Amino acid sequence: MTRLTVLAAVSSLAFAHAPLAAQDVRIALDGDAAGPQIDRHIFGQFAEHLGTGIYGGVWVGEDSEIPNVRGIRTDVVQALKTLKIPNVRYPGGCFADEYHWRDGVGPNRRSTVNANWGNAIDPNTFGTDEFFDFIGMIDSEAYISVNVGSGTIQEAADWMAYMTADTRSSAGQDRAANGHAEPYEIAFLGLGNENWGCGGHMTPEHYVDLMKRHARFDRNYNPAQPADGDNAMKRVAVGPSGDDPSYTEAVMKAWAGRDWTWSIEGLSLHYYSVPEWPASRPSVDFDEDDYALILQTTLKMDDLLKQHSAIMDKYDPEKTVPLIVDEWGVWLAENPGSPAGFLQQQNSLRDAIVAALNFNIFARHADRVRGANIAQMVNVLQAMILTDGARMLLTPTYHVHEMYLPMQDATLVPIEFDGGWYHRNGMALPGVDALAFRDTAGKLWLSLVNLDPSEEKDIVLELSDIRVSRAEGQVLTGPNVNSINSFEAPDTISPRAIRGAVNGARVRVNLPAKSIAVLALED
Ligand code: AHR
Repeated sequence: MTRLTVLAAVSSLAFAHAPLAAQDVRIALDGDAAGPQIDRHIFGQFAEHLGTGIYGGVWVGEDSEIPNVRGIRTDVVQALKTLKIPNVRYPGGCFADEYHWRDGVGPNRRSTVNANWGNAIDPNTFGTDEFFDFIGMIDSEAYISVNVGSGTIQEAADWMAYMTADTRSSAGQDRAANGHAEPYEIAFLGLGNENWGCGGHMTPEHYVDLMKRHARFDRNYNPAQPADGDNAMKRVAVGPSGDDPSYTEAVMKAWAGRDWTWSIEGLSLHYYSVPEWPASRPSVDFDEDDYALILQTTLKMDDLLKQHSAIMDKYDPEKTVPLIVDEWGVWLAENPGSPAGFLQQQNSLRDAIVAALNFNIFARHADRVRGANIAQMVNVLQAMILTDGARMLLTPTYHVHEMYLPMQDATLVPIEFDGGWYHRNGMALPGVDALAFRDTAGKLWLSLVNLDPSEEKDIVLELSDIRVSRAEGQVLTGPNVNSINSFEAPDTISPRAIRGAVNGARVRVNLPAKSIAVLALED
């Protein structure tokens, strides 16, 4: 009998009353305390024209034998819909700065070479109208990135008119002729992508000049999205690469000196869990040293957010401009035998832990971080879903997204805790990470991550000013940190029920090694 089963067999009350032991992690929570709102947009995703992220993963075409609606995979839509994904960033990525939207609308599509990603031929059968059809199917919102690197401002402005103008204009009539009379809504507009790198290697000053013109001329004409309304489109400028402060400084300084002609409503940050470039760590069969190293690299996200928030605070102490981490995740070696440049990798329990740690970090920075997009949605990098022809599987990262659904638009509840340490190969990582929040209905939740791959932990939550009667939720763990879901064994890593032992002001949870748990604390 495992220790977990033994513990489950003892009376809940006795366990809740048990004195604290050396391995216990104590968390103090004041029921009256409330922090900032955790924006649901931190659960955004990213779908680039890259490998089989779109073609094969989302789009199979109407003539495919794979079940689809208007060319879009039914199984993938159904799985993604469950995640209530708040926005999808599209069409890239590096791809966006070489994308010419006219190739992908109307009856005469032009095929192009995807030079960033393996020189694959892009048939452009999936374009603007198919993207909006897709996000409509999964009830999500659009995060469109315009081509700042190699396109003209006029081309971007014309795309905006095609997407958002009504049918009194020719652009709106063009869209209507392609089957969509109503203007589309755009929640976020990315003004370029990594223009310090693949987007044209621009100096911060050059980018800022170009960005201001896009912020001015890439207009949203949709009458349902007035610029001063609650659902106004948010323009997101390119921000830092890792810890380089130059874009953050230049863009925020320009923003502080803005006039009525332009503004931005977001600054992007990209950071991947990659110990060294080029990304070469394996996604399967890695050892514990590698596990700890990837987690240590992930936890640097917190330092980066502090660093760039501090720069932003100089120009924007009111925190008007959100930081949007619109690319994050584990970037690993490509699967052996997969086409070069398709960024296909497996997804392990370790990657699920990376996702949970990142969500907790974003939530702790909720006053500044009000958006994030995992890279990427299907078949690329740290994906939610892997497909192989007609087959589809849900990754451990998918399950974390589902478990964290109550965190969307929740209110952070400050807690105090000491999670101890997990030591490996000269690295010292937190043993346990924890976060508390109240969902939009007022229910209290606790999320817990045990980074230690071998030691389970007894978590003791001590409540002041509130009492709870039940603590129940889901836990995600598996045989090993490198365990994966495969097409042959798709449920190796899948959530199961977990209960805490409750005694009014004290809740005890036995947290398995290498696990993520999310529990509702019921009155
Ligand atoms: O997500 C893959 C690539 O990573 C994106 O295209 C680019 O923006 C980043 O470098």
